[in-house]
Amino acid sequence: AGMEWTTMNVLVSGGAGYVGSHAARMLSRAGHEVWVYDNLVFGHRGAVAPGRLIEGDLLDVDRVAGVLAEKRIDAVMHFAAFAYVGESVTDPAKYYRNNIVGTLSLMDAMRRQDVRRFVFSSTCATYGEPRSVPIDESQPQAPINPYGYTKLVIERALSDYAKAYGWGYAALRYFNAAGASEDGDLGEDHDPETHLIPLVLQVAQGRREHVTIFGDDFPTPDGTCVRDYIHVDDLASAHISALEKLGPGVEFRCNLGTGRGTSVKEVVEACREVTGRPIPTVVAPRRAGDPPALVADSSLARRELGWTPRYTSIVPIVRSAWKWHESHPDG
Ligand code: UFG
Repeated sequence: AGMEWTTMNVLVSGGAGYVGSHAARMLSRAGHEVWVYDNLVFGHRGAVAPGRLIEGDLLDVDRVAGVLAEKRIDAVMHFAAFAYVGESVTDPAKYYRNNIVGTLSLMDAMRRQDVRRFVFSSTCATYGEPRSVPIDESQPQAPINPYGYTKLVIERALSDYAKAYGWGYAALRYFNAAGASEDGDLGEDHDPETHLIPLVLQVAQGRREHVTIFGDDFPTPDGTCVRDYIHVDDLASAHISALEKLGPGVEFRCNLGTGRGTSVKEVVEACREVTGRPIPTVVAPRRAGDPPALVADSSLARRELGWTPRYTSIVPIVRSAWKWHESHPDG
């Protein structure tokens, strides 16, 4: 109340990727001036509005600083990162360089141009093995893989920058991003694909033989892992709410999830219901590093950001993903 904000010029790093492209489009629909900065290593040119893509690398501080100056950027939303947990274990150098050095370079460029508003894609992986579920922000952050560490390091840096340099930031800890925009032209297309819902839908499409269930002997109601699937447009709306509330020294560190847990078997069942196809499954051993259950307590985001997720159950999330998969069989 009484808070005033005007249209901002926003640089969206990684805005050609899955979550970034949804956020960039929602930002632009909210009236902000949006520029996407992406090296297209994982991003898709077609996911960016025409004329809005600036191709470049975050490690190039001069280039980023030049873009911040030329476009008179007021705030940065930073999505660009590598996010394969398994690969972060086998090739940590890649993750430390891209996710930490790349982000610190971006932050250096921001300091040079005196840009002090930052919205950061963080992750529930910063908690590691939770003490209890649902997970709230008071739980210790103790990542169990390099990916989670790289995100935690940046969270700490942001907190220090807020105190020392008067930055305002939001570190938004996503649970499992899922689904696709309802108008059907943005969706989830990772290469390689490792995420559960797109893999299950590829089986429904006949592109894969079966779904592999990684473990059915977890201490959960049906023995399979429980996760909190949060719709990508709900993630996007949280970023915009946070951005519009940032001011000097403001620190938001919030979980983004629905608060509802869904097991692997329940995801498969939802996909059968939505697609009307059988979807065979094969049970395999557990995947290394999978905690049995990760569910968000996201009451802080609801309170502090005034955010409410619109999708609160798995079937509509899967339905939105299926709509996109059916209209974009090749991504
Ligand atoms: N799963 C299967 N079979 C598959 C793929 C996944 O059974 O073929 C299971 C996994 O074991 C897990 C669940 O489905 O229990 C979800 O797996 P995803 O790979 O889709 O997602 P994760 O929960 O492993 O990963 C997500 C984000 C990461 C983040 C992590 C935090 O994608 O970026 O949450 O734990 F680091």
